[in-house]
Amino acid sequence: MADDLDRGGADRPIPKPGITAIQAYTPGKAKAEGVENPVKLSANENILGASPKARAAFAQAAEQLQMYPDGRASLLRAAVAEKFRLEPERLTFGQGTDEIFQLLNQVFLEPGDNIVQGEYGFSAYAIGARACQGEVRFAPEPNLRVDVDAILKAVDGRTRLVFIANPGNPTGTWIGREEVARLHANLPPSVVLVLDGAYAEFATDPAYDAGLDLARAAENVVVTRTFSKMHGLAALRVGWAYAPTPIAEAMDRIRLPFNISIPAQLAAVAALEDEDFAARSVAHVEQWRPWLAQQLGGLGLEVVGPSGGNFLLVGFPGRAAEVEAFLASRGLLVRGVGGYGLPDHLRITVGLEEHNRALIEALAEIYP
Ligand SMILES: Cc1ncc(COP(=O)(O)O)c(C=O)c1O
Repeated sequence: MADDLDRGGADRPIPKPGITAIQAYTPGKAKAEGVENPVKLSANENILGASPKARAAFAQAAEQLQMYPDGRASLLRAAVAEKFRLEPERLTFGQGTDEIFQLLNQVFLEPGDNIVQGEYGFSAYAIGARACQGEVRFAPEPNLRVDVDAILKAVDGRTRLVFIANPGNPTGTWIGREEVARLHANLPPSVVLVLDGAYAEFATDPAYDAGLDLARAAENVVVTRTFSKMHGLAALRVGWAYAPTPIAEAMDRIRLPFNISIPAQLAAVAALEDEDFAARSVAHVEQWRPWLAQQLGGLGLEVVGPSGGNFLLVGFPGRAAEVEAFLASRGLLVRGVGGYGLPDHLRITVGLEEHNRALIEALAEIYP
């Protein structure tokens, strides 16, 4: 093992311990062999595209390509603060929320410290923690749902961060306001609770809450949100965190100085203003998510849920890889989640009406 070597005395540069054991992030597939222009239902992108206003703002940014961006993302900061009624100085912007997770890990983890996350938690948390030589403790998720008691049990004296994707990816399941409050109330005050609300806008059940009010009052809660999903700006990589001031300041010290590009800042501001596009995106998911769940159930398939995301996790016992390949041959790319320890499931983004109908028709051929 390279990790056991005396790195200073080695005959070649050797990465620090743990790096070579990290499993790199696997993105959803974008291509299918022999199929032109397949439909990508594998990355939970916005199937309606992006706001026309955001696209126009992006195009306008072409006039400023010679400039460095505003390192504070001041316009975007003001726009997010106003929209969500948050203190601007408590916001941190990142290249997607992925960068925020990395910053949090860097701020809090020393070698030997740990993070706690659910068994099927989003993989970016663990990659960042391991890069800081942190340990990753997985709490069981019975019924593919975050279990607050299991999370609390996994916390120990070296735990610095608890990451909860709510709704979860790849499960789509979520815990309500009261469970989040109970989790927070029972965590030691030295542990940061990170509430990742990448899919928050699609979690329309009144019992759901993204945690901004909890974060406002607490000294150890960070809420993260992204422009990648409902706003349809995944290509531009913009996410933000609402954190207690000392945590926001710590992240600010180590982030790259110009981490959000000018096109990304301008498009994100325009996207926030485009309430019509946002409403249509949510309404589309609210219309087709239950339809898909019902049709899949009708084929005798187990749909994990209820899902609070723009996707469903579906059980295909013993056949997930075969079904994934079959759907790809029909031009429908879905996401295998074996890497999450779910080899019998596939994650499927809610598509346009024609995609959803094509999916059900294709599956009906193999689940008659
Ligand atoms: C739960 C969850 N959190 C965060 C992200 C990353 O979002 P971003 O594009 O903001 O980095 C994703 C993306 O798929 C996600 O599923």
